[in-house]
Order: sequence, then structure tokens, then C-alpha cells
Amino acid sequence: MQHNSHSVITRNEKETAYIGETLGKIIEPPMVIALKGSLGAGKTVFVRGAAKGLGVIEQVTSPTFVLLKNYRGRFPVYHFDYYRLYEADLEEAIGMGFEDYLPGDGIAFVEWAERLPSLIPTDFLEIFLELYFDNEGEKRRLTFVAHGYSATLAVKRLFSHLKLDTDRTLKL
Ligand SMILES: Nc1ncnc2c1ncn2[C@@H]1O[C@H](COP(=O)(O)OP(=O)(O)OP(=O)(O)O)[C@@H](O)[C@H]1O
Ligand SMILES: [Mg+2]
Repeated sequence: MQHNSHSVITRNEKETAYIGETLGKIIEPPMVIALKGSLGAGKTVFVRGAAKGLGVIEQVTSPTFVLLKNYRGRFPVYHFDYYRLYEADLEEAIGMGFEDYLPGDGIAFVEWAERLPSLIPTDFLEIFLELYFDNEGEKRRLTFVAHGYSATLAVKRLFSHLKLDTDRTLKL
């Protein structure tokens, strides 16, 4: 594990959404949040929670086919999904104005950010979501890696709000 990374284990969808919601409450713009993890890891679940914490009332749905969805909470919220994009699509994505939001005046969430790393700024919050199995069954490990000053601050604030057990799960 990298020295500047912080992990938490979630036992179900609700807990992942709760961590997203907590982040949404404390995050300040401009911020780009890159979500990395396999299909069904919980990226959209996390963003849905974060949007709630940011005061978005609208239903958040996966932007896989439209690539970008905009919401309005306390700040503008941009939800990208790079699943269908590759480095070769860089110019097209720039043509669609993606760069204006990375960062822009709000909070940008990018699912599958690893597909098009050139469109992620150097200051950003990286979140890895991994499937994790133990004797209780299927869980998720969420690992936060801060790149830059404001992301470091955000992670510090997030983890000061989370009550964790010694096994990195949320205290119930
Ligand atoms: N601990 C957990 N945290 C989040 N989701 C969980 C957890 N346990 C089970 N799930 C389930 O995993 C799925 C996560 O779906 P989600 O759409 O968020 O994945 P995703 O990472 O966005 O996938 P995709 O790459 O297809 O966009 C949901 O069906 C959810 O109920
Ligand atoms: Mg998704």
C-alpha cells in the first residue's frame, strides 16, 4: 500500500454509498475524483452517495453510454464514464469540452479514469474499489490516494469523519 493511501472495507452497497455521501459533504471545488475498479466494483454506487452528500436531488444514473452527465448540488457535479474511451479518443473528448470540467468550477467524478489518463489533471483524488472476500462473504475495499494538496486535505477530512474498526470496516 502506498504511504499516502487510506483504506476502508464496506460490507454492502449502503456502506459504500455512505462513504461517498460523507465525502460529498466535505469536498470543495475544484476537484477531480478518479474511480478505478472492475465492472460492478461500486463506482456508480459511490458517486450516487457522493452526489447525495453534495445536495444533488436528481436521480444519478450510470453515464456509460452518454459519457458525461451534469447535476447541480451545492456545486456543479460532473459524472464521467470513460469505459468506452481510449487514449485514441483524446481529441474527440477534448472536442466535446471535457477538459473544461477537469477541473472546472465543480466536482468531477470519473469512472474508468485509467482508460484515458491524459484527461485527468495532476491534482486529483484517486479511489480504487476492489472486490474483497472473507469468511463473511463479498465486500469491497476502497482505497483513497491523494495527489496534490487539496486532495490530501479532502482525504484527511473524510477519514476524520469515519469511525473505523481495527479491521478497517465501519463501526456500526
Ligand atoms: N460493498 C459494496 N459496495 C458497493 N456495491 C456493492 C457492495 N456489495 C455489493 N455491491 C453491488 O455491486 C454492484 C456495484 O454496481 P456499480 O454499478 O456501482 O458498479 P460500477 O463499478 O459502477 O460498475 P461499471 O464499471 O459497470 O460502471 C451493485 O449491484 C451493488 O449492489
Ligand atoms: Mg458504473
